[in-house]
Amino acid sequence: MYRITELANAVGLTRTTLLYYEKQQLLQGRRLDNGYRVYSDQDLQRLKLLQRLQAAGLTLKECKACLDAKIDRQLLRQRLAQLDEEIAAKQQSRTLLAALLGEGEQSSWHQQVSQQAPDAHLNWLMQQGFDEKEALRLKWLSKDMNDHERYMADFMEIFETLTRWGPGDSNDTLTALQLLPQPPKHILEIGCGNGLATAVLAKHSEATITAVDNEEPALERLKQSLAAQQIIGRVQTQCASMTELPFAASSFDLIWSEGSAYIMGFIKALQQWRSLLKDDGIMVVSDMVWLTDKPSPAAKQHLGSDYPDMCNLQQRLQQINAAGYQLLAHFSLSEQAWRNYYQPLEQRLNEVPEPLANSKAAADIRKELAVYHQFIGEYGYQMFILKR
Ligand SMILES: C[S@@+](CC[C@H](N)C(=O)[O-])C[C@H]1O[C@@H](n2cnc3c(N)ncnc32)[C@H](O)[C@@H]1O
Repeated sequence: MYRITELANAVGLTRTTLLYYEKQQLLQGRRLDNGYRVYSDQDLQRLKLLQRLQAAGLTLKECKACLDAKIDRQLLRQRLAQLDEEIAAKQQSRTLLAALLGEGEQSSWHQQVSQQAPDAHLNWLMQQGFDEKEALRLKWLSKDMNDHERYMADFMEIFETLTRWGPGDSNDTLTALQLLPQPPKHILEIGCGNGLATAVLAKHSEATITAVDNEEPALERLKQSLAAQQIIGRVQTQCASMTELPFAASSFDLIWSEGSAYIMGFIKALQQWRSLLKDDGIMVVSDMVWLTDKPSPAAKQHLGSDYPDMCNLQQRLQQINAAGYQLLAHFSLSEQAWRNYYQPLEQRLNEVPEPLANSKAAADIRKELAVYHQFIGEYGYQMFILKR
């Protein structure tokens, strides 16, 4: 026989809990003449069984039902399903924590957060110690806080011998220039890279050009290349971030940005850069869009995760309109523009030695190339000519 305190000690519960169990008729002691409650060994065993059932995730009410009658299989199935869900959620939490500690892959997490909360994600990365340039690169390229430096070093080594860093072609640049309603006087080029478009703008206009990029070595190459072509005179360079451009409002009658606006978000770029344009100023900006309403799932999965705010042409045109721009013209970049970018890149990948050839950066670029070969046509780069 056990007194209530002895029973409580034997099962690791409190006296109050046992009294509560009595009230719920989970346990029934016997009263002695002196009023004390006593419990038998059977009561002890019933309590232990109850605890096992509780450990399986059943509520007290459900435990009682199982103790007093035939087990309810339907109920157990429901509990099992619920438990599986909880385990999966916990497993996800575990994977994420391990990834943040550098013990697993982070890319899908960064992709998801970047898609759902782009500004908060960027600010958070900067709080973790990345400057804006690195935070943006992490968001688009490495997607891994622990492996970022290695990834970017490999990425840069692959690209360092290549002049083109995105799809483009001088004829497409020229076509856009010829679609302008009047010749430009002051051009701001944003994300100019090595200056391939800059050279076309300088050769085919009388305008002064301010070419901006946040990659100083690219600006150096731009200067050397334009000097060699004897067209540097009207071109100034500025190393700055496209998110914080150091120019007064209404400074330019033309903003030009090929393959770069996506870095800060296409629509955000349109909104932020608008004030730099004079009242009837023009913006020429390119962006990647779906050219079909039903992209192949594999293309959607790959490009949709790399460029989360990629949408179809119609949606882009609506967003452009909502951002306060009038569409003057738009066209798809030529197939040559893609070849100009991917052919040298493919060749470079075939030439780079180990261990670079086996790096994650190289693997990601190969994936991008495979998507291009299989799905180009379902998506493309659009050049938009817009009026403020
Ligand atoms: C895909 S490349 C395009 C380069 C060039 N417009 C072209 O079509 O060849 C993107 C360019 O944006 C630059 N960039 C990236 N982040 C930037 C930022 N926050 N501010 C300014 N430029 C940036 C890169 O250095 C790179 O030159």
